[in-house]
Amino acid sequence: MSRKTVTVFAASGTAGRACVNELLAQDVFDVKVLRRKPGQQEKSSSGVLMGVAEKQPLWDEWTRQGVEVREADVTDHSELIPALEGTDYLVSCVPLFATESQYPLIWAAKMAGVERFVPSEYGYIYEWEQFWPTPSVHRTMAAQKAFIRRVIELAGLDFTIIPAGLWPEYYMVEPVGVMGDGERKFSWSCGQDVGRIIPHVLAHPASRNAVCPVAATAYCSWNELLDAREAALGRKVARNYLGLEDWRAAHAAESNPLIKAIMAIGLAATECPEGMPLWANWNALHLPDFKGTPLDQAFTDIIEPMAEAMQATIQG
Ligand SMILES: NC(=O)c1ccc[n+]([C@@H]2O[C@H](COP(=O)([O-])OP(=O)(O)OC[C@H]3O[C@@H](n4cnc5c(N)ncnc54)[C@H](OP(=O)(O)O)[C@@H]3O)[C@@H](O)[C@H]2O)c1
Repeated sequence: MSRKTVTVFAASGTAGRACVNELLAQDVFDVKVLRRKPGQQEKSSSGVLMGVAEKQPLWDEWTRQGVEVREADVTDHSELIPALEGTDYLVSCVPLFATESQYPLIWAAKMAGVERFVPSEYGYIYEWEQFWPTPSVHRTMAAQKAFIRRVIELAGLDFTIIPAGLWPEYYMVEPVGVMGDGERKFSWSCGQDVGRIIPHVLAHPASRNAVCPVAATAYCSWNELLDAREAALGRKVARNYLGLEDWRAAHAAESNPLIKAIMAIGLAATECPEGMPLWANWNALHLPDFKGTPLDQAFTDIIEPMAEAMQATIQG
């Protein structure tokens, strides 16, 4: 059987970059990258923006490793369609705040004969989250992500939906706001592990037209995660166990948009705890050989630097 070709969109982002690198290491698919023409509006999930000069070494290295990097005006179907020709699976890793950029992509994918579209999900179970009671920027994005799945189906494309739970690096500023009593198991996926697991999910036959909720780094409770953090750091980590009313008040009072979006997740997790078990550990069942970043290494390399950067943002 000939190899499928995977094209990654938003490839220079956190999940996208790890996805491309893992595709290369996995060597199961041919790999393309769709990059946006310079000058198109730049967004990110974290608020940190990268310019062409920072991305160019990535594209050069991938090209050296055999990746075909195609460039297009991604708002213009006359450029997008030819750019997607030859793609079997299109993986979108667009940032949280550019969810809407996927609409022209879906149309162009259909016209270009793409078989499967993997939308940029990698968080909650959005089919559930969109119906949470309290309005928030996060709930609106969830509704859009759920709607995008409908658009993919309408286009007649196959899909693979990959919820990944919480990216722990976004939730570790001290005192850590624990969602509830800390005993329930959550799915934890560092952004880099999210990107890394995508090619493995795609290579599994059970991922076609399926929701595959992964725990790419760990499947454990808040208390277990924070105990592991204390062991890795060799010190106590300040924790705040927050219930619904605490999250509600903190969310209402927050003015920083990124922190407010994160708080909306704490609010939702305590407002609708019955949805939490929808996260799962699909990889434990279907990808037993996949290894996420070991937690002690994840704390050192990924989580602590991000927590420090977020702390600095909060302090202004
Ligand atoms: N559950 C969680 O805790 C959690 C946390 C973070 C993120 N997520 C989810 O993970 C997904 C990926 O997020 P990420 O943090 O990996 O993204 P990211 O790193 O912020 O992505 C940045 C990249 O997106 C591309 N991009 C920039 N502006 C764009 C635009 N206007 N339209 C399309 N692409 C644009 C650029 O790549 P190119 O220039 O190469 O195109 C850029 O380098 C999102 O769906 C997000 O919701 C979940």
